[in-house]
Amino acid sequence: MAAASPHSVLLQNPTNLTSKTSIFTSIPTRNAHHFPPIRSPKPLSITSSTQLQDRSAIAPSAQSSDRVFNFAAGPATLPEIVLRKAESELVNWRGSGMSVMEMSHRGKEFRSIIEKAESDLQSLLSVSSDYVVLFLQGGATTQFAAIPLNLCESGDDEVDYLVTGSWSDKAVKEAQKFCKPNVIWSGKSEKYTKIPDFDSLEQNSNAKYLHICANETIHGVEFKNYPVPKNKAEILVADMSSNFCSKPVDVSKFGIIYAGAQKNVGPSGVTIVIIRKDLIGKAQGITPLMLDYKIHADNGSLYNTPPCYGIYMCGLVFEDLLNQGGLVEVEKKNIRKAQILYETIDKSGGFYRSPVEKSVRSLMNVPFTLEKSELEEEFIKEASKEKMVQLKGHRSVGGMRASIYNAMPLAGVEKLVAFMKDFQARHG
Ligand SMILES: Cc1ncc(COP(=O)(O)O)c(C=O)c1O
Repeated sequence: MAAASPHSVLLQNPTNLTSKTSIFTSIPTRNAHHFPPIRSPKPLSITSSTQLQDRSAIAPSAQSSDRVFNFAAGPATLPEIVLRKAESELVNWRGSGMSVMEMSHRGKEFRSIIEKAESDLQSLLSVSSDYVVLFLQGGATTQFAAIPLNLCESGDDEVDYLVTGSWSDKAVKEAQKFCKPNVIWSGKSEKYTKIPDFDSLEQNSNAKYLHICANETIHGVEFKNYPVPKNKAEILVADMSSNFCSKPVDVSKFGIIYAGAQKNVGPSGVTIVIIRKDLIGKAQGITPLMLDYKIHADNGSLYNTPPCYGIYMCGLVFEDLLNQGGLVEVEKKNIRKAQILYETIDKSGGFYRSPVEKSVRSLMNVPFTLEKSELEEEFIKEASKEKMVQLKGHRSVGGMRASIYNAMPLAGVEKLVAFMKDFQARHG
């Protein structure tokens, strides 16, 4: 029994866990730039809390040689340091004698996990006490329905949608079942390569909310600032699934921010909703229990059995992001990664092309095409041989897409651009 271990202390009083209590205490943070060169980590014991010194084997901007660089759009790559932490406590979470998957969601151990995840997320995004953080299920897709059901009094209420890509298009189609959405701008005719100028938008003066998708995962367009609804009572709602926690965001500008976890902050199965408290408790009568924010807010996201393991993983990711110095630092790394990739595309003399208007190019999802489209299959095949996988563009748009979320190391993007230059030299 780990009577003297830090974890046993936590278990005696799990609610004492705060965002200041690091679960990575024995792991050097990734901000420390003195890591030795990358090498395969030694096998880890899983029985104690102190076996993580070998985390220093993972260079801050790289990963172990037995892992691929995974450019998938989601589920996506996770920080190796987080995976190894989870691995080390998979069978016996901090002396509890069980895995997080086996715990009662109402027990003190799991409560400490969800409370810490929540408070770390609040710290990361500076979420004020006017807001509630919810850990839900059903993916961001379920929120496409939950939002009109909770924010509209009846199916006659009008709402505004900006359609900047496939995801906001799906959101508006779902909303049509529960209210009267107006598409006040659509980028469809320009193949979703732009974000509109907000001043020119004709917002509806009766609209209950204005919905945007902050980052279109398939088309690679990202809002660099946000529209302010002209009607003061109108609420700004954002789907941040694919750029959640990739940069600082002023939460106070939004009524609701929601995100599926599986791109930037955890495994699939967890959906995070950050909602202003005054918007809770007004759901339409037909709203299913599980879509009513009040039920979840009143029960601390524990009304029914939540996705416990996924929430635990999100918590580890939040802590890792804090260890990196928070979202200001995380954004700097994301800008650097995106810069070298877009530069390679732009300087290829047309061999590679980015369809997206420069000012709104996503830091997270970088779609690109090859001038000689017949080479695309070869590109993907060769990249895969070099352990760079999931570079195929979404089936609806084709071409290539490199998703370079928070957890994609700089080394992964450097390897990709080196490969792209070499591929061009051989096939250009
Ligand atoms: C921006 C965006 N919104 C919504 C979704 C749907 O998310 P889920 O599959 O979690 O329902 C996705 C999924 O890729 C997405 O990228």
